[in-house]
Amino acid sequence: MRPVERALAEAAQRLKGASDTARLDAELLMASALNIERDELLLRPPAGEVPDAFEGLVQRRLAGEPVAYITGRRAFWNIELEVGPGALIPRPDSETLIAAAVEHFAGREAPRRILDLGTGPGTLLLAALDQWPDATGVGIDRSPEGLTYARNNARRLGLAPRAHFRLGNWATGVDERFDLVLCNPPYVAIGAELGPGVAEHEPAEALFAGEEGLDDYRLLAPEISRLLARSGLAVVEIGADQAHTAAELFRSAGHQPLLARDLAGRPRALLIEVKHK
Ligand SMILES: C[S@@+](CC[C@H](N)C(=O)[O-])C[C@H]1O[C@@H](n2cnc3c(N)ncnc32)[C@H](O)[C@@H]1O
Repeated sequence: MRPVERALAEAAQRLKGASDTARLDAELLMASALNIERDELLLRPPAGEVPDAFEGLVQRRLAGEPVAYITGRRAFWNIELEVGPGALIPRPDSETLIAAAVEHFAGREAPRRILDLGTGPGTLLLAALDQWPDATGVGIDRSPEGLTYARNNARRLGLAPRAHFRLGNWATGVDERFDLVLCNPPYVAIGAELGPGVAEHEPAEALFAGEEGLDDYRLLAPEISRLLARSGLAVVEIGADQAHTAAELFRSAGHQPLLARDLAGRPRALLIEVKHK
């Protein structure tokens, strides 16, 4: 066995107590230490020595730091985003929102104006702009740290000319209409248990939304109609156990939300169409 392969196997073993994805974590950390892509590491494991930096990265993971903050990168949909403390790490579950929008617009005119409320490091807006090359969009967040990552990500991905980021409180002051509104708001109930390392490392303002996790849906539900253009679509992420409660809030605001499920079959997003006369 080559030194790199041996070190990977040993690190995966050590990380088992700290992570449910120990082998994957070890591979991502090794790829980062070697400054290569994970695919390359797996297809052509380098013959040389293990970089000195690798052990430090493993130690940080053992201490509970998320892999994406250690490597500074996270894949999402068709893009890779730079992330770090102060910006929520994109979750595969949130890809459900993009998948649902892609399915909705298949066979229809592609969305040209896109709004991402609570954009964080630009996650949903940049994935959508990559998906629809003729679209332009606006990403809003109240976190200046998140927006710094978002602007850097847009530049790195060559999407900056089509992506505009603003500091703001949800859609306050937004007076345009959009073909697609994407939103992954905070929806965790205060005091709820989160996965290992999440509460310690990721920003609380990106996670928690009051006693029931519903506070931001209450604010957003009445805003959706005025943000959507004719035949526009809004896709809002929900927690797996919020299908009824969150949908009810949008129904109270006069909408008829449809449910989208994630790859595991759990409720993950509400789809809201507004048919302006
Ligand atoms: C769950 S994170 C989503 C981040 C990213 N859109 C994603 O899908 O991974 C929620 C985001 O909403 C932002 N946020 C929370 N309250 C906000 C508000 N009142 N106005 C604007 N953004 C807000 C947070 O800063 C955070 O970036």
